[in-house]
Amino acid sequence: MHPAAVAKPELGAATPRLARLAAEPPPIMRLALFQPDIPQNAGALIRLGACLGVPVDIIEPCGFVLSDRRLRRAGMDYLESAELIRHASWAAFLASRGPEGRLVLLTTAGTLPYHRFTFAPDDTIVLGRESAGVPPEIHAASAARLIIPMRPGLRSLNVALAAAMVLGEALRQTARFPGGEE
Ligand SMILES: C[S@@+](CC[C@H](N)C(=O)[O-])C[C@H]1O[C@@H](n2cnc3c(N)ncnc32)[C@H](O)[C@@H]1O
Repeated sequence: MHPAAVAKPELGAATPRLARLAAEPPPIMRLALFQPDIPQNAGALIRLGACLGVPVDIIEPCGFVLSDRRLRRAGMDYLESAELIRHASWAAFLASRGPEGRLVLLTTAGTLPYHRFTFAPDDTIVLGRESAGVPPEIHAASAARLIIPMRPGLRSLNVALAAAMVLGEALRQTARFPGGEE
């Protein structure tokens, strides 16, 4: 074939790039809970992930065991529908991740309001520990540090409510609600 000639795929046949894209799993948003210490919050977050099709990473140590009855009561039977992965440490969590996908930290120390941020479909939204947020190395490892603006003088939102607000915006922006709804 002449070097300038380009082989045309048959009609209806995928180009190699399209075939590869079709074979790859679609990028997926995740929630990561850093050392959660309140089992009811973890249960609510796992339920949120189950309902919205968002896997949840739990980065240990936790202030409770995953069989805790308070977690099971908050998560109810949704726990069985959840995709839940436990990691022994932050280092183990990082080692489990592929090269793609950003860490997007929610923090009361953030300066960028979450609704001004452009989310990607493979972002992992990282939530801090109820008692202490996250240590400086997690701030440094994150591609963005987002805040939910609040009235002056008030400390923070409940972690599960913060996650629900931001995950809702992230799924809306990326058209990744179950059923493909924006
Ligand atoms: C109870 S708050 C922790 C407060 C902690 N003293 C701190 O400074 O991060 C638990 C987690 O919920 C999330 N969060 C709560 N309110 C938030 C807000 N207004 N903006 C961003 N994240 C928030 C953060 O991930 C936070 O680490």
